[in-house]
Amino acid sequence: MTANELRTKYLSFFESKGHKIITGASLIPENDPTVLFTTAGMHPLVPYLMGKQEHPAGTRLTDVQKCVRTGDIDEVCDSAHLTFFEMLGNWSLNDYFKKEAISWSFEFLTQHLGFKPEQLNVTVFAGEPGIPADDEAVAIWKSLGIPDERIFRLPREDNWWGPAGETGPCGPDTEMFIDTGKEKCGPDCRPGCHCGKYIEIWNDVFMQFNKTAEGKFEPLGRHNVDTGMGVERTICMMNHLPTVYETDVFQPIMAKIRELSGKEAFTSEAEIRSSRVVADHMRTATFILGDQKGGVTPGNIGANYVLRRLIRSAVRHARQLGIAQGFTEKMAEVVIDEYKHVYPELEENRARVVQELLAEETRFGKTLDEGKKEFDKCISGIRRGNEFRAAKDPNFVPVTQLSGKQAFRLYDTYGYPLEMTQELAREAGFTVDVAGYNECFKAHQELSRANVGSAKSGLAEHSEETTALHTATHLLHKALKKVLGDHCNQKGSNITAERLRLDFTHGEKMTPEQIKAVEDLVNEQIRADLPVTREMMTLDEARAAGATALFTSKYTDEKLSVYTIGKSATDYFSKEVCTGPHVEHTGVLGHFRIKKEESSSAGVRRIKAVLEPKA
Ligand code: ALA
Repeated sequence: MTANELRTKYLSFFESKGHKIITGASLIPENDPTVLFTTAGMHPLVPYLMGKQEHPAGTRLTDVQKCVRTGDIDEVCDSAHLTFFEMLGNWSLNDYFKKEAISWSFEFLTQHLGFKPEQLNVTVFAGEPGIPADDEAVAIWKSLGIPDERIFRLPREDNWWGPAGETGPCGPDTEMFIDTGKEKCGPDCRPGCHCGKYIEIWNDVFMQFNKTAEGKFEPLGRHNVDTGMGVERTICMMNHLPTVYETDVFQPIMAKIRELSGKEAFTSEAEIRSSRVVADHMRTATFILGDQKGGVTPGNIGANYVLRRLIRSAVRHARQLGIAQGFTEKMAEVVIDEYKHVYPELEENRARVVQELLAEETRFGKTLDEGKKEFDKCISGIRRGNEFRAAKDPNFVPVTQLSGKQAFRLYDTYGYPLEMTQELAREAGFTVDVAGYNECFKAHQELSRANVGSAKSGLAEHSEETTALHTATHLLHKALKKVLGDHCNQKGSNITAERLRLDFTHGEKMTPEQIKAVEDLVNEQIRADLPVTREMMTLDEARAAGATALFTSKYTDEKLSVYTIGKSATDYFSKEVCTGPHVEHTGVLGHFRIKKEESSSAGVRRIKAVLEPKA
């Protein structure tokens, strides 16, 4: 069965059960600022599930919904996880409940898709204090012939779904898994285990609860059903394929990747992984750019940043497969041709999709080329050192290894994955200190975890350079207030590995004397090597403590980070609410220099500044 046939079968099956087929929504959520993309079919239906309004199509709905889930971008490329996927769903808006939902799921799986009842394993909610176990679901599965040993009762972590964002409808669910027939990976192997024995293809959620902003689950007063079946996974299982990348939707995409790389097949694990990353990420990027709502282009925050990461990761992996520049256009063409009959918006936006992809590919190509220069510099540095020391000491053994720190810098600043650095190193007759690289990576992760705190996407990129420039931005902000006046408020900030950019409110061009005074004041704080400390407090507490707060907080009890640069909590130079991260001492910043002061917009000036090594 193909994906096309599955979509049609599913929709008509539920139509025959009294459901109205509705159009799936945009990938960009309409009313939920807590998520970046639509992650499930129920997401656009939240107001109706909540009972806030009646759905114009009635109380039984079915559709196919484009979804993007980027929680674990780095985990894709196993057999079943994709960043973009299609979800088939049927809903009861306070209409039918568990009996119908489960029976229809069973009927569709066994009578229309051809799964054998013996292949089916299901999980149900085990209950917890205050919320009873789902014995009703167990009884329904049993009545359909599923024996007790294939019904698994699991806790909330496993058998509870939603809300899609941070608040909203949710409830216990029953999940359906196909047993692939593989050996169990161990005595605890069960549905939900990630070894690949059991693949989840469908989920029936009984949405009777609402999660509030305070994190409480309160009864919704309605008995909704929300279901979701993954298209790619289901056709993978139906056709007994090893991974989703062998399914009909991926075939033309994978074929194009092979063609562009000039290889008939990928054999090494690294190549197989790279080809899957390219396939998955390019499909997702094409759908995001080609969405009916448009608007998301590669950038540095939120959804824009996710898109940028997807494209850049695809570019890196394509390079590893020997695929030439300009491939993003070719990949998008294949994806659009493949899906345009289901998602006409892709065709409508074809020109824009291609243009954005090529622009980002080119931009990133430049960064990668700069990284290559940096790599060459490292190698010639090591070689020079070798020659120098060999001339002095005839017994000297030349260094033939790139340090972990150098490899990590290539990754962190230039986006070079370790494998790519290793490849280059091999060509130059060098190895890479992998253990050292891993140490740097770990240290960096811990630092970001500690610092990023509440950053939602968890995708924030923080190199040493950007961290230092971030602290310099705080110093600059305060110095501007001291030199020009307290009216200088930050309007925007943008930091790259090379420079900081600060926009601030000020009516006129700064004089050379003022610029010098600001530079001097910042450099004075750097020379004083002031400690940078972080405290957690609410917005009100932060303001009371004298902190500059450019952000507002949704909840009065929400804890925020406040960074103080100065000798003590009272004797300080700067205090700001900020998510960080920052350096620990200003002394590491080097020398601060303003490169440019210009107008940004009416009443707003823009400064670009850099940190240079100490003179
Ligand atoms: N909303 C449910 C899910 O995504 C069906 O699994």
